[in-house]
Amino acid sequence: MTFLFNSDARRGAIFADAFARDLPEVPFSMDPEAVNPDAVRYLLTWTVPENLPRYRNLEIIFSMGAGVDQFQGAAIPESIKIVRLIEDGLSRMMQEYVTLAVLALHRNLPRYLAQQKRAVWHMIDQTPAGERRVGVLGLGALGQAVLERLQPFGFLRAGWSRSPRLLDGVTCHSGAGGLDCLLAATDILICLLPLTAETRGILSADLFRKLPQGAALVHVGRGPQLDHAALIDALDSGHLSGAMVDVTDPEPLPPGHAFWSHPGILLTPHVASMTQPQLAAPAITANIRRHQAGLDPLGLVDRRRGY
Ligand code: NAP
Ligand code: GLV
Repeated sequence: MTFLFNSDARRGAIFADAFARDLPEVPFSMDPEAVNPDAVRYLLTWTVPENLPRYRNLEIIFSMGAGVDQFQGAAIPESIKIVRLIEDGLSRMMQEYVTLAVLALHRNLPRYLAQQKRAVWHMIDQTPAGERRVGVLGLGALGQAVLERLQPFGFLRAGWSRSPRLLDGVTCHSGAGGLDCLLAATDILICLLPLTAETRGILSADLFRKLPQGAALVHVGRGPQLDHAALIDALDSGHLSGAMVDVTDPEPLPPGHAFWSHPGILLTPHVASMTQPQLAAPAITANIRRHQAGLDPLGLVDRRRGY
């Protein structure tokens, strides 16, 4: 029974230590050439290797991150469980990033940066946090974590998910019918949805029109959820006041793309939350123990839903 690690050697060394400490009975390998393919039960990877069929006894593919959209389209037999990463380090980093973004947009940072470039000293009327409505698309591990972290600022908080949720202090909407209600009452919209057939292109001109005049966007889901041209149009028309974008399609963003220089956009290169091996490794060894005890691993993907 072997755990095969398919990522960079620096992270691999940290995982190897964690396996030796926490799960010594499961041999750890970073070398697909040296490993006996029939012994491989667990694979940790970001993308599905082309030679997947050689691992005939594979039980679980662990994603190196929270997202599993990179596995879509790969021929993964139904008998293999797909598991996304859920652990506190990922949540904390996402909390930091989204708090940074919400506060930047709440306090008009894109406009002040543009003013600074032109040496303009001009005070913009400030909306109090208690009157600012923050709406989160996706109330999963990360959506809930960011809503919790935003609570002390006093923002009015709401969220949207596929199935109904009850969260303390958060107005929860669900399903196709709930989306319009959320949008109509959101000043800062945060996208934390997984990429699926339903969410691809969801951040569209139509969606932006349903937001109030002057609303802003934080996009930390996946690049293909956002219509880039629609965002530029919404910003240029003044309907949206700003955006902080961490994920794009394609990545990296090509030279000359409008996002690089648009004054309404704060752009980062898909860094909102990054897997930290020293935190991810114990989460994965604990998850293997769950699986070995006959329990579903945390983060088990529902193939029909796609996340
Ligand atoms: P998760 O726990 O699976 O939560 C997903 C949430 O989205 C759930 O609340 C789910 O609803 C909702 N949802 C999915 N499809 C929907 C639909 N069609 N309509 C309405 N709601 C829908 O995922 P997570 O761990 O929070 O991660 C979310 C995503 O963040 C990841 O998939 C990844 O793409 C992205 N991410 C980005 C970064 C970055 O650095 N930018 C880092 C990590 C993750 P239910 O509650 O009803 O199931
Ligand atoms: C990063 O984007 C992740 O999915 O963890």
